[in-house]
Amino acid sequence: MNDMTGTANAKVINGKAFAETLRGKLAKQVASLKEKHGFVPGLAVVLVGEDPASKVYVRNKGEQTKASGMASFEHKLPDTTSQADLLKLIDQLNKDPKVNGILCQLPVPKQIDPQAIINAIDPNKDVDGFHVVNAGRLATGGPGLEYGGLIPCTPYGCLLLLKDRLGDLSGKHAVVIGRSNIVGKPMAQLLLNENCTVTIAHSRTKDLPGEVRRADIVIAAVGRPEMVKGDWIKEGAVVIDVGINRIERDGKFKLVGDADYASCFPKASAITPVPGGVGPMTIALLLRNTLIAACRQRGVDLPAA
Ligand code: GUN
Repeated sequence: MNDMTGTANAKVINGKAFAETLRGKLAKQVASLKEKHGFVPGLAVVLVGEDPASKVYVRNKGEQTKASGMASFEHKLPDTTSQADLLKLIDQLNKDPKVNGILCQLPVPKQIDPQAIINAIDPNKDVDGFHVVNAGRLATGGPGLEYGGLIPCTPYGCLLLLKDRLGDLSGKHAVVIGRSNIVGKPMAQLLLNENCTVTIAHSRTKDLPGEVRRADIVIAAVGRPEMVKGDWIKEGAVVIDVGINRIERDGKFKLVGDADYASCFPKASAITPVPGGVGPMTIALLLRNTLIAACRQRGVDLPAA
């Protein structure tokens, strides 16, 4: 990975390479399941409507699922689909033994209540980890997966990058900026399970720069381009940037994170770039969740990586 000056730099957390390694291991695990137990995990992805960003995500999910040797089932529905019809499809997928993981791409059109759809998915097939049962398992369980839950993919990916860089996270002060069900809340829970002291900051936090200055670990997950500035970062902190924002600068479109990379880079001991940091981890962890769900459903051990 290249830093601001274009030279390789050990400070930069290369999520793209990490995700590739993870996907390589997953492909071997899938091959081993096929050989020893005669099945491959299957992931069903449901897309309702024509949101351009969602279409790209769904295409990438399908391609990477197939590349890992798993079965991919894509269901594309028109944006006029009723909630009742979507619930019918979810029910069929819940009952289909070839489908081990189900994901409904968000956002869904406004006539559909996303939480009703998420909670209709069999929690043991909920590879997004968004079902209220999986949120509860994460909130009440231990640090790992031994309590039977499925962990939301993006925070799970952030945690793996952090542990790879820092090892034991015990006692570290983590500040999570953002409180969404998809990233902020499960991220805070995962860090708490790793014995971090966790602050969850959000739009009503009184002194956000002051809170962030106390952090050993900063998770930026607010969806506001380049909001976190370098003078908020404690010297040597690790910055994990979950944001992917498309902005126009000097007449060109550019992807930037929620952290202002140029000013955060000199202060941080390690930082994820955008693109190539957290982004590629999400699909890798989705595939890992599908593999875990399939092994549990079939009652077989997860093959060694
Ligand atoms: N839309 C944006 N991110 C996600 C995700 O992680 N899962 C689903 N289902 N939809 C999303």
